[in-house]
Amino acid sequence: MLKTLSRIPFLVTGGWQRDDDQGNAAACCESYIISKIVTGGMETKVHSSLRTVEWKDNAVVMIDQTKLPNELVYVRYTDFHDVADAIRNLVVRGAPAIGVSGAFGLALAALQSKAAEKEGLVSDMEEARKILFETRPTAVNLAWGLERIMKVARSCGDAAAIRSEVVREAKKMAEEDIEINMRMGRHGSQLFGDNDTIMTHCNAGALATVAYGTALGVIRATRESGKKIKVIATETRPVMQGSRLTAFELKHDGIDVSLIPDTAVGYAMANGLVSKVIVGADRVLRTGHVYNKIGTYQVATMARQHGIPFYVAAPLSTFDLKSSPKDVVIEQRKGTEVTGVAGRKTAPDDINVINPAFDMTPPELITGIITEAGVAKPPFEESIKKLFDSNR
Ligand code: MRU
Repeated sequence: MLKTLSRIPFLVTGGWQRDDDQGNAAACCESYIISKIVTGGMETKVHSSLRTVEWKDNAVVMIDQTKLPNELVYVRYTDFHDVADAIRNLVVRGAPAIGVSGAFGLALAALQSKAAEKEGLVSDMEEARKILFETRPTAVNLAWGLERIMKVARSCGDAAAIRSEVVREAKKMAEEDIEINMRMGRHGSQLFGDNDTIMTHCNAGALATVAYGTALGVIRATRESGKKIKVIATETRPVMQGSRLTAFELKHDGIDVSLIPDTAVGYAMANGLVSKVIVGADRVLRTGHVYNKIGTYQVATMARQHGIPFYVAAPLSTFDLKSSPKDVVIEQRKGTEVTGVAGRKTAPDDINVINPAFDMTPPELITGIITEAGVAKPPFEESIKKLFDSNR
């Protein structure tokens, strides 16, 4: 049986106070806020190298992204159920970040389980894996992260080894995520030139990964290579990952960023304001079909209309080489995300809502898919296969 502790919120305001400083108060709490910085409309200086999620003292610590950009709040979880809730409720989001968070959640489940033998522990972990997996269906990194931890658990000789090895593996995955993003950034930066203005949609940045970012990692690497670039970020209705997260992290990194409403994508392209587009992905099929935040398909279609190159940046862990488009489940989210803005109702009562979280961009609209192993170009079925073969 998995142990569930009581859930007591604990709040510390001001500064970077750590849980270790909280004495007994912190020790009795299963999940609580360990630090809070009121960013005052993004004027407060914060670290540019935001760590979205990490393992600390047998707990998972993550930035609560629902509070950004107004507050930078860290939450600490010691119960995997809380990690599942955090993924479901977008406290942590972005394909690579939820992959690593799922792995950390499963490592927590191993520590929580009272099983003394390997068999019981693996069975408790399978139960936890199911709960974590069901939180969000589209991003393939979640299934990938959970399977990687289960594989390690199955390969260990006894329960003690499982507990230490799964924690080690999850921490390794977090470190690898940063390194992979930086490699992807170096490959991608060669596709962008001096004075490019790059449009991006949603948030595929440090906040969508452990740190650095996929699409925004390429943007960071392009700037680090000495090129002058500007970014146009779409606000990304309904949850506003573009305005709340992309604008936040680029502004804090000192990258020139302008925010536009989603409805201004066509205007910006038609008026010559955009040189190239780069987005992240939640799932890439072997055929080059890309699943990403709702609205990506519209941006890609508009880019094609205006002859603007459209790039996708995604680690190999985001590729699903088995499925075809008919197999992919598009997450449908609650209607209240659409019927209100910032807690204020903007639609009539009882209105029907269609709120898909992701859409599919077909390969014919994509100029290139940037990975840590290189850039795949059309025809994608061939080039993606080559990338995987070279990475074996
Ligand atoms: O619903 P979200 O915020 O998890 O959606 C995130 C995206 O669509 C990102 O673009 C994608 O996960 C790539 S993140 C590097």
